[in-house]
Amino acid sequence: MEHSDPLRGSVAVCGSKNAVLPLLAATLLSEDECIISEAPDLKDVEIMCALLRSFGAETSFDKKAKIIKVKAANITTNEAREELVCQMRASIVTMGPLLARTGRARFPLPGGCAIGDRPIDLHLKGFIAMGANVVMSKDETKSGFVEADAERLGGGDIYLDTPSVGATQNIMLAAVLAKGTVIIENAAHEPEVVDLANFLNKMGARIKGAGTDIIKIEGVAKLHGAVHSVIPDRIEAGTYMIAAAITRGDVTIENALSNHLKPVIAKLRETGAEVVDGEGFIRVKADGGRLVSTDIKTLPYPGFPTDMQPQFMAYLTTVSGPSAVLETVFENRFMHIAELNKMGAGIILKEERRAIIPGGSRLAGAGVKATDLRAGAALILAGLAAEGVTTVSDIYHIERGYSDICGKLSSIGGKIAKVDE
Ligand code: UD1
Repeated sequence: MEHSDPLRGSVAVCGSKNAVLPLLAATLLSEDECIISEAPDLKDVEIMCALLRSFGAETSFDKKAKIIKVKAANITTNEAREELVCQMRASIVTMGPLLARTGRARFPLPGGCAIGDRPIDLHLKGFIAMGANVVMSKDETKSGFVEADAERLGGGDIYLDTPSVGATQNIMLAAVLAKGTVIIENAAHEPEVVDLANFLNKMGARIKGAGTDIIKIEGVAKLHGAVHSVIPDRIEAGTYMIAAAITRGDVTIENALSNHLKPVIAKLRETGAEVVDGEGFIRVKADGGRLVSTDIKTLPYPGFPTDMQPQFMAYLTTVSGPSAVLETVFENRFMHIAELNKMGAGIILKEERRAIIPGGSRLAGAGVKATDLRAGAALILAGLAAEGVTTVSDIYHIERGYSDICGKLSSIGGKIAKVDE
């Protein structure tokens, strides 16, 4: 991509990647058909559908209509295939439903983005609290596997040491069919957790408290099919908000819920960008003068999202004055720093989780590598602001989570094209 004039116009975001993946996992809980609308056309969604089919479900994806239909009338195996699981860490959220529906689940330890260790101990702690036997072993495969079994899961109290999104979802997904009541304390508050609870309740589950610290799930004997529309992708929306700001443009992001993006809106305003939070849209105007630094600290929702940290950091390289970025959710989520520095950002890693961005950098185009999904998005944004041509490689990471990012950015004036290597 090349240095772009200020982006102008409007761009619409898709349904949320991180919401649709657990919704798809939930379809394994019923033998009836489930219909999910506003499904985003993403590589990760394809992987999840392939995983559901590998367990015996039938799936269809009408990409034009954005509708996925899943019917898991029969589960033919509860063992996950390594070649699917290793492509996407979020595949682990099918473990809870399989365990609940079939009494057993066996998984290779999951892959996904290379940010931090990303353990699954809290997911397993939840299954154990509901009475499952859990065995983790190393075998001749590289990463080992984990197996859980329980004839029928029971009630239990689970305290999460950290409010893990995936663990909260996986435990909810298992608990809905438990014999008894499951209480999750220190649960994740993310909108994607609430969306999952809403869908499960439509399927006949009894979940209360999603979106707060304590989620209470009263198990039921059976779930039925349901129809549900995925919430908009707050991280995709946030990425286009930064695209507007980093190019000093004026962009309206449609299908965006400002309620889900409060920290990003607040931080953009602190830098001097104008943000209009409308009904179902957000407009970012950054063409009105000098933009200044601010500090960010990532936190679980409703704090500043770790999934927006790389993109916001790219933006902070272009404003006046130094900013500090503290990453508290994941260790090792600073791989974009080396790449941004190749473009002249001059970012200094102070400690493992704290970086200082000097700001005021005139970024220059370079050959850079997407090391993970959001880091890749940050490099695209930096490339729009940089003088000269930037080439981002390993864009398969980006395609896992952004639908047609080149087309959308081009439509608002970004000079970007996908080239085959
Ligand atoms: C989800 C999102 C991801 C986002 C992250 C945090 C999906 C598909 N992915 O990932 O985009 O960056 O939330 O908002 O929704 N942890 C443990 N033990 C566990 C589980 C997690 O220690 O059993 C730790 C992790 O190492 C990490 C922290 O908890 O430090 C948060 O991780 P978690 O919320 O679980 O992230 P994911 O659900 O994997």
